[in-house]
Amino acid sequence: MTRKEFIKTGSAAATAAGFTGCLTATAADKLALLGGTPVIGKAEAAKRSGIFAWPIVNDAMLKASNDVLLKRKMSGTDITKEFEAKFAAWNGTKYALACLNGTTALNTAFYAIGLKPGDEVICPSITMWASCSGAVNIGATVVFCDVKPDDLTIDPVSFEAHITPRTKAVVVVHYMGAPCDMDEVMRIARKHNLKVIEDVSHAQGGLYKGRKLGTIGDVGAMSLMSGKSFAIGEGGMLVTDDYEIYRKAIRFGHYDRIPQVFSMEEIKDTKNMPFGAMKNRLNQCAAAVGIEQLKKYDAERAEIEKAMLYYWKQLEGVPGFRIMWPKDEGSDKAGWYASRCHYDPEAFGGLSNVTFAKAVSAETQGGYTPGCYMPLHTSSLFGKQGPFPVTERMNQLIVSDPWFKHCDTAKIDLYAAAVRKVAAQWEALLPLDEGVPPCDGGLGLTDFEKKKRV
Ligand SMILES: Cc1ncc(COP(=O)(O)O)c(C=O)c1O
Repeated sequence: MTRKEFIKTGSAAATAAGFTGCLTATAADKLALLGGTPVIGKAEAAKRSGIFAWPIVNDAMLKASNDVLLKRKMSGTDITKEFEAKFAAWNGTKYALACLNGTTALNTAFYAIGLKPGDEVICPSITMWASCSGAVNIGATVVFCDVKPDDLTIDPVSFEAHITPRTKAVVVVHYMGAPCDMDEVMRIARKHNLKVIEDVSHAQGGLYKGRKLGTIGDVGAMSLMSGKSFAIGEGGMLVTDDYEIYRKAIRFGHYDRIPQVFSMEEIKDTKNMPFGAMKNRLNQCAAAVGIEQLKKYDAERAEIEKAMLYYWKQLEGVPGFRIMWPKDEGSDKAGWYASRCHYDPEAFGGLSNVTFAKAVSAETQGGYTPGCYMPLHTSSLFGKQGPFPVTERMNQLIVSDPWFKHCDTAKIDLYAAAVRKVAAQWEALLPLDEGVPPCDGGLGLTDFEKKKRV
């Protein structure tokens, strides 16, 4: 497709969508970042914000949470146990244990698999620190490995190369919804007698070759905080088929439930004291919301998938801007949490993803940012490691996409039009190019920095 055709397609899509007020034929030729008229004006952006609103809170959730408050049951466990049982059935695991958040669920998992001081745990370097920080609390060492460039999940070859006699476990992260190569991960882990923890924080309910994520390794742990696909507020869940792992998980931080799974003989010295010295019980308002979330989550996921695949259909043929989508039959990207796509600077004369994303965001009033999480192996928190060639380059090869929650095709067309408009005029951006993107360390550092400056 030629440059002129790109522009024409972009303008036509916006016009067809009824947003002619924000895109005139002549202004469409000039990029908003260079003073042209944006594809989506500020007023239109405010009107379209509902397409992104998250989480979707319905009356049943409000009532469920109110009921807990009115019955003064916030600190009980009856509703939480009901949520756990329903979550386990939906997820396809024998046991589920609700925790305060994803971080505590992961901390619990490290203890529950029997990790000890001096052990090593392998983890991909591109993830949020909470994927592996629980191992540090136990006195173990986190050894990082590289990721695959096609989906930013653990590279099995790099994983195996980092195994030592001290390695006891691997954490795999289904990063930004993409399922890890679980066949290879499990083959290597079993060969070396390692436990496998799946961090499912970005892909609740996702599939790998037809199997639910979190059911393939020894234990799954995940965040259910408000920004995630499966959102209940602050909350986390641990899932497993292994009763010993489940019992130890309870022993870590659910003190009041210890006598329910350990005999009096087993706990005669410690009674119900938690071995993690933690109290990880979930607030039952969140558990009640979770029960309601379970009823609608699969439908919400399906709608998101429809919207995101529609968007990508409109972008077919744009060189250098590519969907991240699992290639295996039966695998998906549940919920599309924090959607990212591939950006190839070579297709745009070396233009960085920073400037490209900025230019598209100028057309759409936000929604496109360059890069992904800061590689953890560069942080002194874990002790600097590396180099990891793929991990260290990925930040320049990724752009975040708008995360559409509803398949409103007229609105989505405008976002596709904006990408096409920028992709057609990249040469004009070269003089402004800003180079390498900042990494946020999985902390939303940009917002953090902004707050610091206030
Ligand atoms: C991959 C990953 N693991 C773990 C966590 C920690 O979960 P939480 O924030 O609920 O503690 C997060 C983020 O929230 C995450 O992105």
